[in-house]
Amino acid sequence: MDIREAYLNFFASKGHEIIPSAPLVPNDATLLFTNAGMVPFKSIFTGEVPRPTPPIRTSCQTCIRAGGKHNDLDNVGYTARHHTFFEMLGNFSFGEYFKKDAIAYAWEFVTQVLKLPKDRLYVTVHESDDEAFALWEQHIAKERIYRFGDHDNFWQMGDTGPCGPCSEIFYDQGGEHFNTPEDYMGGDGDRFLEIWNLVFMQYERSSDGKLTPLPKPSIDTGMGLERVTAIMEGKFSNYDSSLFMPLIEEVAKLCGKPYAYESGASYRVISDHIRSVTFLLAQGTTFDKEGRGYVLRRILRRAIRHGYLLGIKEPFMYRLVDKVCEL
Ligand code: GLY
Repeated sequence: MDIREAYLNFFASKGHEIIPSAPLVPNDATLLFTNAGMVPFKSIFTGEVPRPTPPIRTSCQTCIRAGGKHNDLDNVGYTARHHTFFEMLGNFSFGEYFKKDAIAYAWEFVTQVLKLPKDRLYVTVHESDDEAFALWEQHIAKERIYRFGDHDNFWQMGDTGPCGPCSEIFYDQGGEHFNTPEDYMGGDGDRFLEIWNLVFMQYERSSDGKLTPLPKPSIDTGMGLERVTAIMEGKFSNYDSSLFMPLIEEVAKLCGKPYAYESGASYRVISDHIRSVTFLLAQGTTFDKEGRGYVLRRILRRAIRHGYLLGIKEPFMYRLVDKVCEL
């Protein structure tokens, strides 16, 4: 299955306009990079620009989470699910539908299009959100609905901007494969994998921390393409999926040593970072002592350091670019 196409077509069939991915560097001084699918639509959520027709959209947005509020850089290579560069599938409602339809669409897509088994699925809601809890109960047993606080179930794009309580869908990869003390719902382990975040956009946070209601309650969702691809391919790590293995195999060729998961963090770091570096350079970001260019420099340096750990002493990153383009 082409997951991007399946997602976009599903939401198009529900009346959403398909919007191409926006650039990684947003026209927004409050953010280093586009870090979520909603970023290009920020000013529609806040009412600064009028609602489009139709007021519902869907996209597959390239994102970078390195530097700034959502910064996954140090985790990359050492978990099965973090990336500096990734693609986020999303559906957006600018005051058109709200919690009920967002939840119903998500459930339909996950269980009827992706056909993920229901007995592997769990959801979370904000601890104060009885409405979302009751809506989820129409689809899933209440024992599978967890309530968490702001840390897990309140989403915001940055220190300022649109935000709101959220509801996440988790996929249980199985206790037979994951059994560290962190492998419980809400823990940091990889067993319960968050695949989709439904944000009930209700507020705009200003720089003094104040929350002002948005003109209309809205929806912003984000599903990680790499995570869903791994699940659909029966892999326990995003890096084992067809999005990353061809890159990891190229790194293995460059260093002349076969890849093994347990000792393979450096291969994974390089296969992640080459995607960020390639996309950022292609879109015009250049190396710098500060700001976005400094983050780009840090990502490149981290990749090269891991190349050294693998024994690669010559320049090598450029040799992976063709594979990134092909993938
Ligand atoms: N905007 C939703 C998310 O990034 O999870």
